[in-house]
Amino acid sequence: MVAKILDGKQIAKDYRQGLKDQVEALQTKGYTPKLSVILVGNDGASQSYVNSKKKAAEKIGMISEIVHLDESTSEEDVLKELTRLNEDDSVSGILVQVPLPDQVSEQKILEAINPAKDVDGFHPENIGKLYIDEQTFVPCTPLGIMELLNHADIDIEGKDAVVIGRSHIVGQPVSKLLLQKNASVTILHSRTKDMQQHLKNADIIVSAVGRPGIVSKDDVKPGAVVIDVGNTPDENGKLKGDVDYEEVKQIAGAITPVPGGVGPMTITMVLNNTLLAEKMRRGIE
Ligand code: GUN
Repeated sequence: MVAKILDGKQIAKDYRQGLKDQVEALQTKGYTPKLSVILVGNDGASQSYVNSKKKAAEKIGMISEIVHLDESTSEEDVLKELTRLNEDDSVSGILVQVPLPDQVSEQKILEAINPAKDVDGFHPENIGKLYIDEQTFVPCTPLGIMELLNHADIDIEGKDAVVIGRSHIVGQPVSKLLLQKNASVTILHSRTKDMQQHLKNADIIVSAVGRPGIVSKDDVKPGAVVIDVGNTPDENGKLKGDVDYEEVKQIAGAITPVPGGVGPMTITMVLNNTLLAEKMRRGIE
């Protein structure tokens, strides 16, 4: 059996067309969503991510700005910028790219984002709402994964799902979303005793640890759905997923490539959440 390829690039393209139509409809009412991104420092990967988010936002008719602060910026000055964006009525959504430099507390910054503009879903109020099943901003990578599964008509109810990684950005929220869809979810992490035993039984595997090759064909049950969130650059700068794609593709039921799987969906969900933020504050829908 050769797996169905979950083509995130194409699915994202179609989804963004739908968002573009919605942005145009909002503009006829006099509103244009605006995404403001705070980037502190010069990390190459972070710069590339925020540029992609800005470009994608502009391509569907949104306004987007990057507030680029120096690596040495104090926590107080980052907070000042954030407060300015929180209060700026032209800004619909705010995203602070992480990681932040050591002198800036990530927790303090994320707690200072206006929850109504928190398009990443990283504010404690929004995280709390997610865990009690209230409507809220959901972190973009987990939301993108669920949209990929939904688009491919993959049945989640009653399935055994295994998530590798317990981060606040991906592992934990995607586990919660799978649970909301009635999967039985197991989270694996660095202290797990026997990863393979869990993986071999899984109907759905989501790997989000950034360790190329951590999921090989011997770990995967034939027909399982395999979602690869890894994107680690190799020595030539080529992005590598967590999954041994060429081998696992031969036995999985469905699989995401890297690049072109989860990545484009994450950016699409940033746009989705920015549109949602604008609609919510205008009382639309
Ligand atoms: N760094 C890595 N992934 C993300 C993300 O989804 N949002 C933000 N703000 N920073 C990130």
